[in-house]
Amino acid sequence: MNFEEASALEAQELVFKYDALVALRGVSIKVRPGEAVGIVGVNGAGKSTLVKVLAGFLRASSGRHRFLGMDMDGKTARRHMREGLVLVPEGRQIATRLTVEDNLAIGGSCFGWHRPTTEAIDFAFEVFPELADHRARNAGALSGGQQQMVAIARALVAHPKMLVLDEPSQGLAPFLQERLAGSFHSLREAGITLLVVEQNLSFARQCTSRVYSIVNGQVGFDGGWEQFVAQGGLIGAH
Ligand SMILES: Nc1ncnc2c1ncn2[C@@H]1O[C@H](COP(=O)(O)OP(=O)(O)OP(=O)(O)O)[C@@H](O)[C@H]1O
Ligand SMILES: [Mg+2]
Repeated sequence: MNFEEASALEAQELVFKYDALVALRGVSIKVRPGEAVGIVGVNGAGKSTLVKVLAGFLRASSGRHRFLGMDMDGKTARRHMREGLVLVPEGRQIATRLTVEDNLAIGGSCFGWHRPTTEAIDFAFEVFPELADHRARNAGALSGGQQQMVAIARALVAHPKMLVLDEPSQGLAPFLQERLAGSFHSLREAGITLLVVEQNLSFARQCTSRVYSIVNGQVGFDGGWEQFVAQGGLIGAH
């Protein structure tokens, strides 16, 4: 099979095993530049495994994936990040004892990344203006929703061309979800492609234009939200 030239990210027939447990059974997905695409599925369906493979944190046992025309199979997470594909992992994982500003300053340093530019930090604060008011506070002293913003802001300083977010709305109050969805619109306006893993279907629908449903390590649905709902996909996803 040939890759489609116009894709930002394309995966073909990805298989991943945790020893005897087959978590991905031949997953193929395609995301075009500037698109926002959702990934949904029940607990344990394989969503986080898929995005970890796509971002280079796990190596597929077979199948291929490509980012902006580059073969990324077997490439490290650091390499993925350097090319502009950045994962915001499940469960925030920010440095709670450091200030918001220091969290952004070390953005990506675990990959040996250089210090982010002032412009990149300013852009992150532009997307999340609320964080600017808290820049000198310890991240651990912020609310859960604000900590989620720090996690995303930290990924932004790495100049992503594509952000892959694993359950970004988790634990957020509805009004904060609204605000986060608004921030995603700003990111798209800035030309950043989004792949959003979500359990929260209404949030996912709000901030993406189409969806893949992962069922037991395979793509169970691929299409628009209206069709997904019409086919009873909401039930199928749970
Ligand atoms: N580190 C691991 N070692 C062994 N098995 C794992 C590991 N991580 C996940 N799995 C298994 O792989 C399968 C897929 O897990 P994964 O975390 O990708 O699911 P998920 O769709 O992200 O679920 P959730 O919605 O709960 O986050 C599950 O059966 C899970 O138990
Ligand atoms: Mg998960």
